[in-house]
Amino acid sequence: MKEPIISKDIRDAQTLPSRYYTGADVFELSKNALFAGSWQWVTDNASLNNVDLVPVSLLPSFLDEPLLLAKSEDLWRCLSNVCTHRGNLLVDKPCQSKRIQCGYHGRQFDMAGKFVHMPEFEEAKNFPGPADDLPEIPLEWLGPMGFVRVTGDASFEETFKPVIDRLPDYRWDELKLDPDSVKTYELPANWMLYCDNYLEGFHIPYVHPELHKTLDPKGYATEILDRGTLQIGIASAEEEAFPARGNEPPIGAYYFFLFPNLMLNFYPWGLSLNVVQPVAPKHTKIHYRSYVLDASRLGTGAGGALDVVEIQDEHVVAQVQLGVQSRLYDRGRYSPSQETGVHHFHRYLVEHLADLLGL
Ligand code: FES
Ligand SMILES: [Fe+2]
Repeated sequence: MKEPIISKDIRDAQTLPSRYYTGADVFELSKNALFAGSWQWVTDNASLNNVDLVPVSLLPSFLDEPLLLAKSEDLWRCLSNVCTHRGNLLVDKPCQSKRIQCGYHGRQFDMAGKFVHMPEFEEAKNFPGPADDLPEIPLEWLGPMGFVRVTGDASFEETFKPVIDRLPDYRWDELKLDPDSVKTYELPANWMLYCDNYLEGFHIPYVHPELHKTLDPKGYATEILDRGTLQIGIASAEEEAFPARGNEPPIGAYYFFLFPNLMLNFYPWGLSLNVVQPVAPKHTKIHYRSYVLDASRLGTGAGGALDVVEIQDEHVVAQVQLGVQSRLYDRGRYSPSQETGVHHFHRYLVEHLADLLGL
């Protein structure tokens, strides 16, 4: 039997080979193999006020999937924003409308994406058919956040079940986007390196000394999920914490990573969402936005100094990108006690990419 690229047993496993972080082929293949079939954040409900049509490019410069959020009878759908005639993009900015009309040759659709009219097609045979309607993809909501999945059949409920189960009484519908929190960071490194760094708290004492003080040093746990990880930060005595349940220690933060690129960080004041957007093999954008539940607790506890933490992380990740490009480095080993999340992520990457790469 072929040796696995990354052993299931973390104690003798080697880390992800460097070519995953540098190769244009890996970058390209990951679009369909990892991203198109996963649930991706697409919008906030606050962005949909007073409009009926909202065009979205899903993960621009990467998936670049042209989508159209369309409202009919108070129901939002996610349609393709590509005209079924010859592929023109249908809508270029948010607007109010009662129908969708292509600006190229005038094809019309209703707000559910159904073909309505096309000039000069009287002689066309077997027309219109189902292929002339706009394809629809699933759009689901978690509080104010809308998520879509372009291909495949991954279930929304199963994907988010670990989050919902862990926070059973969470006031999802009370989360409010804080517009000042919407930020994009640019990183001169591969997206997987950013995720690797997120997946371990091993570096916290070295890279984030300030954050380290707010967390109980012994209270950092990683749980492996089917398609992601949960890291739990136990609050130190004086810090803000989630209300304790039973005999559980007070929890300062829940850090969920849902593969391949969605991070949901729950703090006592609310939720910080990070979407990792690959741009090029060595260029990544990280989109930050916070949804506030309790504004009076904002800026306190483990989620208090997000900007500082982000800058510290980006600095070290950019250094690692230079390191993995080295002719003298290919891969390393894992700490069995500290890097179970990284190991799990790497095994997921290899599981989806190695065959396609012919490895
Ligand atoms: S491309 Fe839309 S009508 Fe021709
Ligand atoms: Fe960090």
